[in-house]
Amino acid sequence: MNILITGGAGFIGSHVVREFVNRYPTYHIFNLDALTYAGNLENLKDVEGASNYTFIKGDIVDAGLINTIFEKYQFDGVVHLAAESHVDRSITDPLAFVHTNIIGTVNLLNAARDMWKDDSDKKRFYHVSTDEVYGSLGAEGLFTESTAYDPNSPYSASKASSDHFVRAYGETYGLPYVITNCSNNYGPNHFPEKLIPLFIHNIIENKPLPVYGDGKYTRDWLFVEDHAVAIDLVFHQGKNHETYNIGGFNEWQNIDLVKLLCRLMDQKLNRPDGSSEKLITYVKDRPGHDLRYAIDADKINKELGWKPSVTFEQGLERTIDWYLNNEVWLKNVTSGDYQAYYQKMYN
Ligand code: NAD
Ligand code: TYD
Repeated sequence: MNILITGGAGFIGSHVVREFVNRYPTYHIFNLDALTYAGNLENLKDVEGASNYTFIKGDIVDAGLINTIFEKYQFDGVVHLAAESHVDRSITDPLAFVHTNIIGTVNLLNAARDMWKDDSDKKRFYHVSTDEVYGSLGAEGLFTESTAYDPNSPYSASKASSDHFVRAYGETYGLPYVITNCSNNYGPNHFPEKLIPLFIHNIIENKPLPVYGDGKYTRDWLFVEDHAVAIDLVFHQGKNHETYNIGGFNEWQNIDLVKLLCRLMDQKLNRPDGSSEKLITYVKDRPGHDLRYAIDADKINKELGWKPSVTFEQGLERTIDWYLNNEVWLKNVTSGDYQAYYQKMYN
């Protein structure tokens, strides 16, 4: 099988590429990535020499390139992760999200539809999406696969749109697809603009920890390697034209999570208890900030037997250890453009 994974040098994509390259020596894995600020080939150093792995630098918005590689490599399956993924960036530059998340996805769908028209029963288009498409929950309730879409940010609106296009290509052209909607991931190789890696980075550097609003927003957190295993499972065993929610059964209010992270970091850095908490700084809220995300992951659990393998404490400890042991990675991704972005967002 020739499998195209898009966005494989980013956070989740790099873990998915590693999972597929190592677990399936008889597949050939093609990783297509434009290497935006969020893509980093250092994430895949350990597999770059594997004989069943090829990296292609390219943009999913470039329809000509997509058609060319589909023709050249005759992909049997696509696992589509490439996206603009940060809500705050989507607020300052929505069009970048329209281009990559919507037009880029439709380019891939067009190529898959055209190339697979005679043997589509043997193919699979896997679209990786987010729980954010469902909008915001109040204090109670969980997102299920039948919750109506109600996106609030340009990011979630662009992901919702791409999900609809995937489903529409299934209905209209018979494209074989699966979609998963996952909660917030955390773990190694996470670009330090999202909550957990940003705060780990700032604690190391003794910089303020900018908590939006009152910090009482709630997210469900999943260790990234557990997400990669779920993607592997759904790719191979998920039912055609179905959606699966993936979650960590692990809800945290931001402020409680940040305090836990502060305690763990004080221990790891041998700093006096309470040092990191002193860095907490409440800042202006994110516009359109979703109050609560929570996932009902019963379907993937019952149908495919998936559940998270690590507790939050174990996952966080592995994440912190990874950042402390990979200072060069962190230094490289937080130089140059990152500094300008940080100034713009937080000053
Ligand atoms: P990321 O921002 O870390 O990585 C995105 C990758 O896509 C990068 O390598 C980037 O270079 C690449 N990319 C961006 N634009 C591209 C383009 N036009 N052409 C080719 N490549 C391009 O994102 P992530 O957190 O790893 O998320 C991956 C996917 O998972 C996204 O589709 C996202 O919506 C989804 N998702 C993320 C989370 C999360 O918590 N991070 C949760 C649920 C779903
Ligand atoms: P984030 O990691 O950006 O993920 P998402 O918005 O996709 O859920 O943010 C997680 C939560 O943390 C969200 O409620 C926003 C909040 N947050 C802060 O309080 N401060 C920050 O600097 C960032 C980046 C996020």
